[in-house]
Amino acid sequence: MSVSDTAAAPLIALEAIADQGFAEVEATVDGDSESVVLYRNGGQVRGWLNICPHAGRRLDWAPGQFLKSREGHLVCAAHGASFALDDGNCVAGPCKGDRLRAVPLQVRDGQVWLDAAP
Ligand code: FES
Repeated sequence: MSVSDTAAAPLIALEAIADQGFAEVEATVDGDSESVVLYRNGGQVRGWLNICPHAGRRLDWAPGQFLKSREGHLVCAAHGASFALDDGNCVAGPCKGDRLRAVPLQVRDGQVWLDAAP
């Protein structure tokens, strides 16, 4: 997946995402404006398209509001598919074995950026 290398602005400040929490941003991915789910783990942030591989629905139940299971998985609000937060793999639910589409990111100067050169 390629991302826009003309994006001059960061997506969000690292501090705007709670540690072990989620955020949602709009980003240009493959030339299209996409909703992206961000997950912060300390100083690291991972991102995936906010599109569930099961039926293509958004993962959040309200904009930017994501469910996290007791096991620490991201849970799709539509039909409950659970995704591991290290690799985006669906570990339970109707699309088990499928995965979220990763969006390459980097954290720099306290800001989260699209990584144009993964
Ligand atoms: S659309 Fe996500 S579980 Fe069905």
